[in-house]
Amino acid sequence: MNKDIIILGIESSCDDTSAAILKNNNVLSNIIANQEIHTKYGGVVPELASRAHQKNIVPVIHEALRIAKIDKSEIDAIAYTRGPGLMGSLLVGGSFAKGFSLALNKPLISVNHMQGHILSHFINNNLYNPPKFPFLCLTVSGGHTQIVLVKDFLDMSVIGQTIDDAAGEAFDKSAKVLGLDYPGGPLIDKFSKNGNINAFKFAKPKIKNLDFSFSGLKTSIMNLINNEKSKNSNFISENLEDLCASIQHSIVNILLEKIKLASLNTGIKNIAIAGGVSANSYLRDQLLKLNSFNVYIPKFEYCTDNAAMIAVAGYYKFLNKELGNLKETSSARLNF
Ligand code: KG4
Ligand code: ZN
Repeated sequence: MNKDIIILGIESSCDDTSAAILKNNNVLSNIIANQEIHTKYGGVVPELASRAHQKNIVPVIHEALRIAKIDKSEIDAIAYTRGPGLMGSLLVGGSFAKGFSLALNKPLISVNHMQGHILSHFINNNLYNPPKFPFLCLTVSGGHTQIVLVKDFLDMSVIGQTIDDAAGEAFDKSAKVLGLDYPGGPLIDKFSKNGNINAFKFAKPKIKNLDFSFSGLKTSIMNLINNEKSKNSNFISENLEDLCASIQHSIVNILLEKIKLASLNTGIKNIAIAGGVSANSYLRDQLLKLNSFNVYIPKFEYCTDNAAMIAVAGYYKFLNKELGNLKETSSARLNF
């Protein structure tokens, strides 16, 4: 029987410091330290994020090892997020991973954060079967919106992406206009539950290919709110649920239309979602209603940033002998 492989995953691309231990593709621990500090600024402050990562990284790794009941000498490889993300944040996780790899004399594996989101589907959770290759993955997060054609674990290409804001940004910026805390995506999801999706209509982007645009929608939302507020200062509080539901409906519809078009263009019926916005309940419900597709939805806890997804990507790279090295530098705009 093959030997089990123990991977330490480290994720620090934005404002979550996370470490995970995987035995093959089974999660033994997945520790996430969120950074509350950004809430009062209405968005992630890069300098504060990297300082918080520095404070959190050692305790988070200790905790991941403790919960997994794994000694550091048992680790077979260290996988870390090389990019994309905030440079100062990436450097903290990357530097720690390199130092640890050198000290333990264990291989280093660099992981693309977006590939990590996609490969989170292959974390073993005994609940459902992972997507079958080839599949299309709608990867929607705070910094990215992509349609990725996934032919194999490590063979994937971007076939459509946003030309301006990401879907998560569209949620967060709309939430900010509504006076909601950062990150606003989960709050819009929550307040939408009892709202009317057709209460307000917003501009729809007119982009013909598989690319996305959300900036027109954002302007349209801001214009409507400012206009109505000038007539009634309580407009937002009196219409919060309907506003949230209508905004969410508009964003999700843009995503659904493009993924359906991507399926039509490629003939691929296996559709997965990944990234923070894939936690959105309306997106999940609407996708599951598309009967003619095989839809794959990740477990809720692996949608937003976490190190288990980096470790599972590291596991497949390890099996494929795609090891990194100390000379690789973190990259804010890393493609794959
Ligand atoms: O993947 P992620 O944790 O971090 C990045 O790589 O960006 O995604 C964070 C994004 C934020 O914009 C957040 O508002 C959004 O995911 N998000 C949601 C929900 N949960 C997280 N957006 C809509 N509905 C949700 N339930
Ligand atoms: Zn992410």
